[in-house]
Amino acid sequence: MRRFAGLSTERLAIRLLDEGDATEFLRYRNLPEVYRYQAWLPGSMDEVRAFCLRNSTEEPFRPSIYTQFAISRKEGDLLIGDIGVILSADGAQAEIGFTLSPGFTRMGYATEAVSAVLGYLFEEVGLHRVHASVDPDNTSSIRLLERLGFRLEGHLIKSYRMRGGWYDDCIFGMLEEEWLSKKDAAAANHENR
Ligand SMILES: CC(C)(COP(=O)(O)OP(=O)(O)OC[C@H]1O[C@@H](n2cnc3c(N)ncnc32)[C@H](O)[C@@H]1OP(=O)(O)O)[C@@H](O)C(=O)NCCC(=O)NCCS
Repeated sequence: MRRFAGLSTERLAIRLLDEGDATEFLRYRNLPEVYRYQAWLPGSMDEVRAFCLRNSTEEPFRPSIYTQFAISRKEGDLLIGDIGVILSADGAQAEIGFTLSPGFTRMGYATEAVSAVLGYLFEEVGLHRVHASVDPDNTSSIRLLERLGFRLEGHLIKSYRMRGGWYDDCIFGMLEEEWLSKKDAAAANHENR
């Protein structure tokens, strides 16, 4: 059984979302400015608790089941955001989604956390490709994806159903080889300084 021991970055700790996160997760995921571009809504406290419990006790990274990472700052245990990953049926690819609690945006936390999770997915889980599906008006998400090295693969017209409406959907992708060459280039750049 695959286990996830957590990830540590310069400022952040990343672990699996668990029952202790339920109240804060429910609070910020229910804010209109947070769910504006997301079809998924957390539901009731009981549903969120059950989701968090399942997430932290069952094996992570199983195909077609969400694994939800919790992001907190090293200096405090408060949940500041989350990252969801769902593997394809054959386990070789994944879709990634990310959310920060509004008080913690524009500080580079999402860049730091998503980058660490991508490193884990490509280098430890061994994925071939990761993609994200984003509303074309969701500019902060698109900036984040481009900063991380994702490529725009396609703009689908009215293909995403959300709260009774149909919305355009931009697919951003990254291959394992792109992740590794970006990492090598960053290391070479660092050595040449
Ligand atoms: C998508 C989302 C996570 C992006 O958050 P974000 O705060 O823009 O991203 P980061 O935390 O990486 O911060 C980057 C910004 O902080 C700035 N910044 C400040 N200090 C920084 C630092 N130390 N390191 C890096 N960036 C820093 C960057 O310049 C950048 O600003 P810019 O976007 O104006 O260029 C956030 O907007 C969100 O939760 N949205 C709602 C949920 C959602 O729609 N999710 C997407 C569904 S797929």
